[in-house]
Amino acid sequence: MISKEDVLNYILDSKDAVSGQKIAGEFNVSRGAIWKIINSLNEEGYKIKGKSNFGYYSDPNINIYSKNYLNRYLNQPFHIEIFDTLDSTSTYLKRIADDYNMSTLVCAYQQTNGRGRTGKSFYSPLKGLYFSFAFKAKEIKDTSLVTIKVAVAVIDALQEVLNKKCQIKWVNDIYYQNKKIVGILSEATIDFESKEVDKIIVGIGVNLKFDKIPEELKDVATSLDIDCCNKNLLIATIINNFFKEISIEDTIKTYKENCLLLGKEINFTINNINYHGIAKDINKHGHLIVEANNEVIELRSGEVSLGSINYGNK
Ligand code: BTN
Repeated sequence: MISKEDVLNYILDSKDAVSGQKIAGEFNVSRGAIWKIINSLNEEGYKIKGKSNFGYYSDPNINIYSKNYLNRYLNQPFHIEIFDTLDSTSTYLKRIADDYNMSTLVCAYQQTNGRGRTGKSFYSPLKGLYFSFAFKAKEIKDTSLVTIKVAVAVIDALQEVLNKKCQIKWVNDIYYQNKKIVGILSEATIDFESKEVDKIIVGIGVNLKFDKIPEELKDVATSLDIDCCNKNLLIATIINNFFKEISIEDTIKTYKENCLLLGKEINFTINNINYHGIAKDINKHGHLIVEANNEVIELRSGEVSLGSINYGNK
């Protein structure tokens, strides 16, 4: 029995457009049967286009997540799961991460309990891109730089796939036109016996399109206002970029070139004391170097905000 998958793969594997007659001949079915399958693929959200005397071809700019496209674009194998709605792709991945002995990727069209850093929630309506991937910590050289590496992978992919120039707000929020458009959550699971980091789970949410934005987010978040793009290529490019072997020096260099904060006035809090200073540098550990009150402070983690509020002594 010929399946939708067979026809889709055949079209995707063909370098040029391929006629209904040729596909029908290949699978020994009628052209009508092929036509029906193509209609059904299009109803699912694929864009198989046909031109007379030219044949069928597939437009990759589709709004659905497709295992088929993802597997083609990804440079390494992943177990992939796709959901209409999840509480959170990262929470779900934590639940199933041990079920698979390979890297795992989970995508959802919306999240009902999207999680952000420091216990915050992440607004995850339909039309956004929400995915998490998990892998064995031993697959990468330096787990301490995961956050920095993901930010660089995302910023490069947004430029490569969507032609959008974005910026990184330390540690790893991605900004577009001075508002947040991507949230990144990096988490680890610890091996009970060795007490070492076992798996790493990276969750990424991209605000591709907001139909409406909640009042409380209006000043801080925005969307790229994209109705349709090659979602699968964007996900795969982020992941492929992340796993590329790039030296720490080059990663930090790209991070700094795209960093929104350097040279700017920022505010932050340490042990309940508010500080105001100038963001000076990102060191080789990905820490933010700030000058405040004639002191040099190294921030290893935490939240900073842009602004010229001066807190007096601190
Ligand atoms: C942040 O901005 O604080 C991080 C937000 C991370 C959001 C993504 S969306 C996919 C994955 N699932 C989640 O629940 N969170 C991450």
